[in-house]
Amino acid sequence: MIGAMVETTQRREWEERQQVLIAELQHRTRNLMGVVRSIADKTVRASADLADFRSRYRDRLDALARVQGLLSRLNEHDRVTFDELIQTELAAMDGGISRATLDGPSGIRLRSSTVQTLAMALHELATNAVKYGALGQPQGQLVVSWAFERSSVDNKPWLHIDWRESGVKMPTPGVRTAGTGQGRELIERALPYQLNAKTTYTLGPDGVHCTIAMPVSETAMEVEENASA
Ligand SMILES: Nc1ncnc2c1ncn2[C@@H]1O[C@H](COP(=O)(O)OP(=O)(O)O)[C@@H](O)[C@H]1O
Ligand SMILES: [Mg+2]
Repeated sequence: MIGAMVETTQRREWEERQQVLIAELQHRTRNLMGVVRSIADKTVRASADLADFRSRYRDRLDALARVQGLLSRLNEHDRVTFDELIQTELAAMDGGISRATLDGPSGIRLRSSTVQTLAMALHELATNAVKYGALGQPQGQLVVSWAFERSSVDNKPWLHIDWRESGVKMPTPGVRTAGTGQGRELIERALPYQLNAKTTYTLGPDGVHCTIAMPVSETAMEVEENASA
């Protein structure tokens, strides 16, 4: 009889846990639908015609799907790390991962709430590099370097990302390209607002230089553990 009671209790606990998981899944799905809709709205505004919309929208949904893939394999204590994110995004570009030089520590853990937006920003940088920059031109070079640092003001952990393209033949200044500036807007305006990030974006004489500094996860700092080990 005691055995039966234990089993009933275990069963009830299991059912409660399932309810929590289902509620969480519904919450995430609703959020994701919101993200998908907002990407559609923004892409419509940025597109020249339907064919242009189709390719931009597909690319962005693919980027979103990739980041969902990273997020979904995690349990609640895990975190997506920056090196995983940049590698995933560049690997999705034609020749991106072989052409780019990546230089930074692995294991910098991102806050879950920031992963999606950062992934979309990296996606904009990478597609721009393919369309106009270092990943689309034979002489072009891309170096992405990053570092972990604690703020001297409040000791909070920050990630500093440096995206530097060089050897790129830039469009003649003053001549407007067909571009809409949506990628640039995401980095210069959305990141500071959504991620509390500090960003710079410069079209230099031989390539884009972009920096992103953003707060990262306070928990379980692999990097510091490794450094002090
Ligand atoms: N990596 C790059 N190399 C050279 N020029 C770039 C690069 N990224 C962006 N640009 C220039 O900045 C413009 C704005 O880019 P963006 O905001 O992403 O809009 P879009 O991709 O729709 O053109 C582009 O049209 C291009 O002229
Ligand atoms: Mg773009």
